[in-house]
Amino acid sequence: MGPIGIFDSGYGGLTVFKEISLMLPQYDYIYLGDNARVPYGTRSYDTVYHYTLECVNHLFDLGCHLVILACNTASAKALRTIQQKDLPRLTDIRNVLGVIRPTTEIIDQFTRTNHVGILATSGTVNSQSYVLEIHKFFPQIKVYQEACPMWVPLVENNEMESIGARYFVKQHIDRLLQQSAEIDAIILACTHYPLLLPLIKEFTPENIQIISQGNIVARSLANYLYRHSEIETLCTKHGTKQFFTTENIENFKEKASIFYGLPVEAQQII
Ligand code: DGL
Repeated sequence: MGPIGIFDSGYGGLTVFKEISLMLPQYDYIYLGDNARVPYGTRSYDTVYHYTLECVNHLFDLGCHLVILACNTASAKALRTIQQKDLPRLTDIRNVLGVIRPTTEIIDQFTRTNHVGILATSGTVNSQSYVLEIHKFFPQIKVYQEACPMWVPLVENNEMESIGARYFVKQHIDRLLQQSAEIDAIILACTHYPLLLPLIKEFTPENIQIISQGNIVARSLANYLYRHSEIETLCTKHGTKQFFTTENIENFKEKASIFYGLPVEAQQII
């Protein structure tokens, strides 16, 4: 038995972890941020896959049987290979889940016009994962994408309220909305982006719904654990949370506390 692992390239996954730990406080959790190698969003398929697999293996070594990739880029570029190639080689029961499926399978609840916008990293946009997944469930929905390569560095450097952030947030929202006047729902398809929500809202017309993934992923995890007792019984329940980073602990503690909203004690993992 062991904790549930939550992985992200950096701090963004904390936006998902926060919601998961609120909805399912009884479980033990380990959060791992690969802050030393963030951002993943501009890296190749192979690099994202190898980095993600390494971090998932760290979480397995720490006793996790279930790992959530709280990172769209890793979910888009590494999840399928890990599920199809790496997990079958294990001798015991473990699973890795992502954030794209939970969001795409309910996207029809958010749009009336059937025109949905995606804001994501270049890696997620180029993978076409959102377009393919949404069309699997809802072929009638038109999907428009915009890559925002500057947004993750702004968040990682705690520059969310800077003039630079205002410039780049406005620029990418304008570019997305120029693709169609009918967009009525926008998915923040990068777990870092909810940290820019006040600015995103400021530059988006009020009639457009902005969808953050934290709550959606938390609900989907609750449902998964309910349906998969073989995994659920392997998850320990003492309500503990541990934080690991691949970077300097002091940096991580300070920023993670801001993003998580509570004081965070961290350990380094290499
Ligand atoms: N937070 C991640 C995501 O959801 C990735 C950010 C990055 O490392 O570029 O895509």
